[in-house]
Amino acid sequence: MTTLWGGRFEEPPDRLLWEYTVSATDRRLLVDDVVGSVAHVKMLGRVGLLSPEETDTLLRGLDVILTEAREGTFEFVDGDEDVHSAVERRLIELVGDVGKKLHTGRSRNDQIALDERLYLRRAAATQADRLGRFGLLLVALAEANADLVVPVYTHLQQAQPIPLAHHLLAYAWMVSRDRQRFQQVGERLAVSPLGAGAAGGSSLPLDPIFTARELGFDVVFANSIDAVGSRDLVTEYVWCCAQAMVHLSRLSEELILWTSSEFGWVTFGDRYTTGSSALPQKKNPDIAELARGRAAGAIGDLTALLALQKGLPLAYNRDLQEDKEHLFRADDTLAATLEALGGMLSTAEFHPPPPSPWTTALDLAEALVRRGVPFREAHAAVGRLVARLVAEGRELTEATADDLAAADDRFEPADLDLVDTRRSVERRVTSGGGSFESVSEQIAALRHVLTRD
Ligand code: ARG
Repeated sequence: MTTLWGGRFEEPPDRLLWEYTVSATDRRLLVDDVVGSVAHVKMLGRVGLLSPEETDTLLRGLDVILTEAREGTFEFVDGDEDVHSAVERRLIELVGDVGKKLHTGRSRNDQIALDERLYLRRAAATQADRLGRFGLLLVALAEANADLVVPVYTHLQQAQPIPLAHHLLAYAWMVSRDRQRFQQVGERLAVSPLGAGAAGGSSLPLDPIFTARELGFDVVFANSIDAVGSRDLVTEYVWCCAQAMVHLSRLSEELILWTSSEFGWVTFGDRYTTGSSALPQKKNPDIAELARGRAAGAIGDLTALLALQKGLPLAYNRDLQEDKEHLFRADDTLAATLEALGGMLSTAEFHPPPPSPWTTALDLAEALVRRGVPFREAHAAVGRLVARLVAEGRELTEATADDLAAADDRFEPADLDLVDTRRSVERRVTSGGGSFESVSEQIAALRHVLTRD
């Protein structure tokens, strides 16, 4: 095999070295690698390091490779050490010895940093789009089920009655921030590392600003060591994936609970649920369970990336080759999860039972507060009422005017009307709280937030 670096070696690489060090994961960067090379060649021509004829020849060769890459017909061979050497090898095959000028003023170190940025920029925009669509799906579900009332839970105990839509929209807000994070990492990615070379720059009259502009970057690296040796933007991207997966795992967990017969809140379409090989009656929410499980992998990828960089000396070290496996896996995990969970959610039929009347206990306390009773006293009064009813095995809806009077003489008989859960929601006035008006406002706001650039 021919390597890019055979000159100083007397023996060819051992098979074991080759198998251990070669990267095939980076083949996913093929198009980005060629796009970067096109800009680099144009720059070399512009500064006179390539003649106009050489520039044309190389660009024509790269154009063929770009077509092969885009059409999936580019062939890798065993001797390709990584995607960069594969492209250079193919270029020399296509245009002859002039192809050997491609790597002028460049190192694979600034090249991989560039390829990753090109990939991340595109991938971040795609994930933001996917998250936007997923968020809008939650908004549509909230709107379609705007009339349903459920309990909101704290400590997994029924807390207050709220619209189911309010609960679904809580996830839509999380998703909107996940989307925003991908948009913001995109801004930080707009710095071109091309021209940093191996680590310290070059004696050749390169024009990194030209290549940066060609590739749509806003600015050029200010420090070549940072440009080739840092991977914080990869970590940041994978953190965005992991955080979004963690949100989806929480949603999944709730969907799993809600499909149980104990909750009975929701049913998903047969197409999006699975059966049991042993238990004929089962209908399982496997997509949600796997989404919850795959969040673990995304957290693992993030952890691996942090560990990969911890204590690593500057500038480039081959360890960094390992970043791609984690990057691509986390990226794919989020993409697939959004698709599958979105499909399942779009078949959701919600039919939650009403919340327990106990969830209106706060309304009784607030009635006293309105009459000037300090909240702590009002809380204690309702607590006494609850204790008495519980001790006698009665529900809150079975309370009488006498029960209220026994708990606190500032209660009025009409307060008995407060224990209706739907009316509790209707009384709610906090902006952003669990009321029907708040849900309508949120739906409008989220439609804006989830579609803006
Ligand atoms: N395949 C390498 C990577 O993915 C590219 C840079 C290799 N540089 C080197 N000097 N071996 O990180």
